[in-house]
Amino acid sequence: MDIYRAGIRPVLFSGLKVDPEWLHQRSLQLFSGLISRQQSDQINWMLDQLEHSCSIKDRRLQQKLWNVEFPNPVGLAAGFDKNGIAALMWQRLGFGFAELGTVTCHPQPGNPLPRLFRLPQDRAVLNRMGFNNRGSQAMNELLSPLVTKRQIPWGINLGKSKVTPLAEAATDYLTSFQRLQDLGDYFVVNVSSPNTPGLRSLQDKDQLGTILAALKEANYAAKPILVKIAPDLEWDAIADVLDLATTYNLGGIIATNTTISRDGLQTRTIQATGKSPTQEAGGISGAPLRNRATEVIRFIWRESDGKVPIIGVGGISTPEDAWEKIIAGASLIQVYTGWVYEGPWMVRRILEGLQQRLEQRGLKSISEAVGIGSE
Ligand code: FNR
Repeated sequence: MDIYRAGIRPVLFSGLKVDPEWLHQRSLQLFSGLISRQQSDQINWMLDQLEHSCSIKDRRLQQKLWNVEFPNPVGLAAGFDKNGIAALMWQRLGFGFAELGTVTCHPQPGNPLPRLFRLPQDRAVLNRMGFNNRGSQAMNELLSPLVTKRQIPWGINLGKSKVTPLAEAATDYLTSFQRLQDLGDYFVVNVSSPNTPGLRSLQDKDQLGTILAALKEANYAAKPILVKIAPDLEWDAIADVLDLATTYNLGGIIATNTTISRDGLQTRTIQATGKSPTQEAGGISGAPLRNRATEVIRFIWRESDGKVPIIGVGGISTPEDAWEKIIAGASLIQVYTGWVYEGPWMVRRILEGLQQRLEQRGLKSISEAVGIGSE
């Protein structure tokens, strides 16, 4: 039991009854404040200690994908650091990469509060944030002076602004991509959030094709472009996305975003609103999503003969969960909800668990494990 799970989480999650979004913002501000003061010897020493305790360096965990070096396969999922205000903190917390965003072309406030709810009985979160962010121009200004200081790859996740009609979606994604393309190591077309009206319809072959064509043409540095899909898509629709992956030479697929399904939830009432999860709009993340996300990964791996790189995300909080995703076909994995519940030392626990599993099976590196359990 670490200090987060034994002492900090009980106080933050129940003792103080604080609003989860408020707590999230304070944590991000703390991270951002620490990073901006890292020239101070004391702060730098503290960050070094933190990094030492949260991370593991091991050649077997490294991977090169799209010619980008990933020091380990565990990344921070999109939505945690939407504006990139703590962009340089994630390497200190042991992550092997961080996906910043979702960022949209126009700054926007997102949905009315409250819009983020914990479902502790289910080890889940329900959110309907609605892409609250400062916009891609602000992200460009923030990240430009920092980009050379990053020690882990940055993904940048792009979404459509709420004010932009669906028919003009391609221009919206393109403008953000053009503003940010020198700052990300890979890019994600997010067409799978349940919280922007109509967004998921952009997963449809024709509409997604138009967006990908626009980005491909502007992609002078040949940055890897991935598509993030919803776990609620039918198999046929996923197969369509895979066709596009070939047509547009996509970098890969991120599987998956949050689910609109409420199946299997134990939570009857959400404390903050007094309503049931079925009465609240939004996407569910965390443990209830785990198996479905793994199924989607396995499907993509099989359907593409392992040729389309997959970033697996959904319900990971233990080494076993991470291993399951990797052997189903994910080259990299991401965490969000599990990290909130399990705390900053979760990444290290997962990495240690992966090392053990590699040893037990006589494998020399993570890339040798990818897809070995996809049958
Ligand atoms: C998210 N997620 C998300 N995804 C995305 O592509 N863009 C975003 O802006 C957000 N925002 C967001 C906010 C909150 C509060 C949560 C909990 C999640 C989805 C996230 O990246 C991930 O795909 C899912 O949460 C599943 O992973 P976990 O949380 O089960 O590890």
